[in-house]
Amino acid sequence: MSERRSHRVAVIGGDGIGPEVTDAALEVVRSAGVDLATTSYDLGAARYLRDGFVLDEDTLEELRGFDAILLGAIGPAIGDTRIAGGVLERGLLLRMRFGLDLYINFRPFRAVAGSIADGSEFAIVRENTEGPYAGEGGVLRYGTEHEVATQGSVNTRFGVERCVRYAFARADALARKKVTLVHKTNVLTFAGDLWRRVVAEVAGEYPEVEVDYQHVDAACIYLVEDPRRYAIIVTDNLFGDILSDLAGAVTGGIGFAASANLNPARTGASLFEPVHGAAHDIAGTGRANPLAAVSSAVLMLEHLGEIDAARRIAAAVADFEDDVATLGTNGVVKRVQERL
Ligand code: IPM
Ligand code: MN
Repeated sequence: MSERRSHRVAVIGGDGIGPEVTDAALEVVRSAGVDLATTSYDLGAARYLRDGFVLDEDTLEELRGFDAILLGAIGPAIGDTRIAGGVLERGLLLRMRFGLDLYINFRPFRAVAGSIADGSEFAIVRENTEGPYAGEGGVLRYGTEHEVATQGSVNTRFGVERCVRYAFARADALARKKVTLVHKTNVLTFAGDLWRRVVAEVAGEYPEVEVDYQHVDAACIYLVEDPRRYAIIVTDNLFGDILSDLAGAVTGGIGFAASANLNPARTGASLFEPVHGAAHDIAGTGRANPLAAVSSAVLMLEHLGEIDAARRIAAAVADFEDDVATLGTNGVVKRVQERL
């Protein structure tokens, strides 16, 4: 008999509905026969409010050593002003993305029946460590009438190229081989030119992959009016952030959208999280939709090489026709288990 190793997964349930949806996802993964050894980390808004801890170097190093990280949601309730903006975003989420070099944010979308984008299936490959997120810039003459605030967009040849290469490799593995670069090259001429040249160069290595380009404003229209034109969208960090919320909305709601923060070079554990937030208003009511977390776990299983289990769960979740709101979290888990 072959020895099957269990995968070591760090679980950051986080805040609001986060712990409920990660529990649900882990239950589905286990019923698909995958052996996980999980370690919980208490991080997020609640933890910060309790003892001021966000994330430190030791914890980050521990996280690096896992096979994967599954995250629920991080953030205080809307209207709770006790945590300044950026403390958790920069201190926790972005610190993990940058510190673990999770340079790809992969967000696949498969439109649910009846949604605006019905019939479409595409993915956004978002650069995840650079752009305006990098933190370049600063403030001069703070608080005066002459205050100056700059926030630069950092685009390195290295960072753009590894992102574009990932997008082409992904597209090449699809039946519909197409990469659409989304940018604003007519205005952001320095960064845009770098992205354009890198795409043209990498495209030369993939003669089978069709290449398209759109300005980001136009892409917003196409995502609503003709989303079937896309297979893989590759874009920078901020455009990818905005486009993925729009993509979630037109394909059936952010309640279904999954994401993978990937370190394809595997020098740190990759992190898998639903795109939605902590939804404190429904936390503890049993009404949270766990499907985005389950789909994020599917991405995690693909990354862990559990291809068969990933396929089975993805198939059980696809075309999920039962009403999620009526079933509730546990009901959805049961239906997915029945369909496995
Ligand atoms: C996301 C989120 C984050 C981002 C925030 C919470 C920092 O919106 O994962 O899309 O902007 O990347
Ligand atoms: Mn976002």
